[in-house]
Amino acid sequence: MTSEAEQFEKIPCISYENSSEACRVLAVEVASLIRQRQASSKHAVLGLATGSTPVPFYRELIHLHKKEGLSFQNVITFNLDEYFGLEPQHRESYYRFMREQLFDHVDLPDSQINIPPGTVSREQVFRACRDYEAKIEEAGGIDLQILGIGRTGHIGFNEPGSAQDSPTRMITLDKVTREDAARDFLGIDHVPRFALTMGVGTIMRARRIALMAWGENKADIVAKAVEGEVTDAISASFLQLHDNAQFLLDAGAASSLTRNQHPWLVGSVDWTDELIRRAVTWLSRKLNKPVLKLLDEDYNEHGMSDLLTDCGPAYQLNIRIFNELQHTISGWPGGKPDEDDRYRPERALPFHKRSLILAPEPSDELRAMGGTIDRLIEQGHTVDVVFLTSGNLGVGDDAAERFAEVLKELANAQSAENWEAPVRYAGQLLGDLAAKGPFGQDNTTLRSIKSLVRRSEARHALRNCNLGEEHIHFLELPFYESGRYRRFKPGDNDVSALCDILTKLEPHQVYMTGSASDPSSVAGVCYRLFQTAMAQTAKEAWQDECWTWLYRSGEKPFASYEIDMAVPMSPGQLKSKLTAVSQYTQEEKSTGAREKAVAKYYDQLGLADYEAIEAFRRWAG
Ligand code: GLP
Repeated sequence: MTSEAEQFEKIPCISYENSSEACRVLAVEVASLIRQRQASSKHAVLGLATGSTPVPFYRELIHLHKKEGLSFQNVITFNLDEYFGLEPQHRESYYRFMREQLFDHVDLPDSQINIPPGTVSREQVFRACRDYEAKIEEAGGIDLQILGIGRTGHIGFNEPGSAQDSPTRMITLDKVTREDAARDFLGIDHVPRFALTMGVGTIMRARRIALMAWGENKADIVAKAVEGEVTDAISASFLQLHDNAQFLLDAGAASSLTRNQHPWLVGSVDWTDELIRRAVTWLSRKLNKPVLKLLDEDYNEHGMSDLLTDCGPAYQLNIRIFNELQHTISGWPGGKPDEDDRYRPERALPFHKRSLILAPEPSDELRAMGGTIDRLIEQGHTVDVVFLTSGNLGVGDDAAERFAEVLKELANAQSAENWEAPVRYAGQLLGDLAAKGPFGQDNTTLRSIKSLVRRSEARHALRNCNLGEEHIHFLELPFYESGRYRRFKPGDNDVSALCDILTKLEPHQVYMTGSASDPSSVAGVCYRLFQTAMAQTAKEAWQDECWTWLYRSGEKPFASYEIDMAVPMSPGQLKSKLTAVSQYTQEEKSTGAREKAVAKYYDQLGLADYEAIEAFRRWAG
């Protein structure tokens, strides 16, 4: 880190290319701590975290155990937290998480595992928490505390308002935290309201602290914790007061740090085209002035005088960026035939194009680019939508139940012989649903019914865009069918399925998402599979003519400077997009806020004032 960056970053941050690399480094550090202690017959005391963030780190530890003989016999662990009221065997308990993700795969003695007891009675909570603290003391304190960070900036479950010296205790979970856990618990109503957590004080007593964060969705909270004031509104910011805390970040999670976001404020920079666009749009927003009204003194007063020397004066630089932004706007996402395409985001030729839209889960495609799909079809391109996963994990039991009941009713009403099988099937489904209860794991039959629910919604939704059924493909990648949220294990079968469809469809354009997602999410996993599949098919002729456009669905939207193609929408087009999206009944209704926000941004920069815009970034490969 440069000393200039240190002015902003009050916690040392190391950013790695990706989470795997960061986890390898951390696992090596842990292994050396364990071995050092083994050499002097001492224990190593680790503070452990749950959530999707540490999963790849635990996989590294397991790898070191299996391949390099790293033993955990001398390790004592203390977990940060546990949901209050969840039985250890509950599929979402942190106890079970730790068993599945680490403990069952290494030689750590059970007696050396400590997790706050989520099942004590309310009367016993205080005492249990006090005992937990005492046990940590007795073990000699925590040598290394592993942390993730929640969207509220919490560490452990220390929600906003937690004091710097707070001890292990029971806490009420924040609404945002419960919303984030809703998918895992199959609905927010099932998410516990309380948890037991080590306090900020408990964490701060650890001799060393390593906080990990992956993906752009964590970028803003990471930047606040590292660069902002120390405040109990963001409990991770207390780590600024620790003398041996460190953040390990991937590129996405580090992207909002000043050194990456506004490097010209940190020191001298190499002004690339993208950086110039970023600086000018940032200045325009900061001063609340359209780009064309920025003055020389505005640049000079905001650390950009060298930019003026290279590309100024202001009016010249302003016009350059204004034009660049203007050229990103196009109502012809497949290229405009018979027109000069020098300043258009897409090539005019070939025309018509084969456009392939990859959706990690059903609804990603319409939420992010329903208007663009509409235009591509209207403008005569061949559009194929490929759903990479079935999305059945997002379907509630009630939808499967309704399906089974309709089937049963219908079959009973017919009473013909050939309806016997459906009646039996419906009965079995209802039985399976009752047997597993709200938290049980879906068996294959239930998952396949839920896939069908999702399929029919997808077909309905895409019918709104006049997309023929022969252009809708359901890939049902195996990693998803055999996995569950945030704990997927993709493999070669997934890659080859993706290679096959790419080779079969030979697209001129691919639309894909996931580059900014948490790597453990469905979109994150799919994006990495896509990268591998593109690399494996790199020599095929169709790739010479293929451009990939990235879109954002659930992730943090693109910043204005990241947008290479902005497809504008009229109020009518937005309305019909929202109607199409609403066919996906399993998810929250879309209000079009994201599309409107991008349009507003363009307007504020001094460009045309559209109702809504769908944004894309060209993939560099
Ligand atoms: C929960 C856990 C935290 C974790 C956070 C983030 O709130 N109690 O310890 O850091 O989730 O979860 P994830 O890593 O899945 O983003």
